[in-house]
Amino acid sequence: MIEFLDVHRMYKTIAGDVHALRGVSLSLAAGDFGFVIGPSGSGKSTILHLAGALDRASSGVVRINGEDLSKLDDRRLSRFRRDNIGFIFQSFNLISNLSALDNVLVPMLPAGISKADRDRAAEMLAAVGLENRLHHRPNQLSGGEQQRVAVARALFKKPTVVLADEPTGELDSVTGREVFSLLRKANKDSRWTFLVVTHDRTHISQGDKLFCIRDGRLVADAEQHAFS
Ligand SMILES: Nc1ncnc2c1ncn2[C@@H]1O[C@H](COP(=O)(O)OP(=O)(O)O)[C@@H](O)[C@H]1O
Ligand SMILES: [Mg+2]
Repeated sequence: MIEFLDVHRMYKTIAGDVHALRGVSLSLAAGDFGFVIGPSGSGKSTILHLAGALDRASSGVVRINGEDLSKLDDRRLSRFRRDNIGFIFQSFNLISNLSALDNVLVPMLPAGISKADRDRAAEMLAAVGLENRLHHRPNQLSGGEQQRVAVARALFKKPTVVLADEPTGELDSVTGREVFSLLRKANKDSRWTFLVVTHDRTHISQGDKLFCIRDGRLVADAEQHAFS
């Protein structure tokens, strides 16, 4: 569950303040699949970073699974992120000298990796069609394969909230569709909440929640334009 109430995010820069979010309110229930769309610089990534406990709001309330993130100190915030959030980035963010299998296991490193973890990581990679790529390093994988590793890594911890920032931005359209079908399947098989930033409206389906942002504000009537 994701809830924003009148959220503002201000960045201080030497050139002055940047008001990246100007009072954003939105909500997604458990099991929802939502999209954030809008022009470059409108605040899409800022929304995802706040929802993913990677950043803090300047004012307003960000509540994830009922937890007000502003009430958590830095240590509890990073634990919350580890336990609840799966993040998928446009540029995959895999570690170049680790195999696909070890990349999936990276989030488990601090706690120690068991044989059961390794088996389940291999199962996750098989589930995204990479059973023959377990020991390949990122530079031995195609872009689509790397993003599938990143999807497996994000889903491995059974996150309650999955956030993806233009996850198909560097992929061709066929591979992009494959990545979305993996996300859809994970959403259908679980009660996890998905929020995805995209430029490509072809991935949006009826029943999805749509948040259209412009200059740090949600603009109304997004639904009306969604399928035009
Ligand atoms: N760390 C930062 N410091 C200063 N300004 C930032 C920072 N991060 C983002 N911004 C600014 O905030 C606005 C929104 O950025 P962002 O959320 O990344 O937009 P989008 O993802 O929609 O392209 C932009 O004007 C951007 O330049
Ligand atoms: Mg962005």
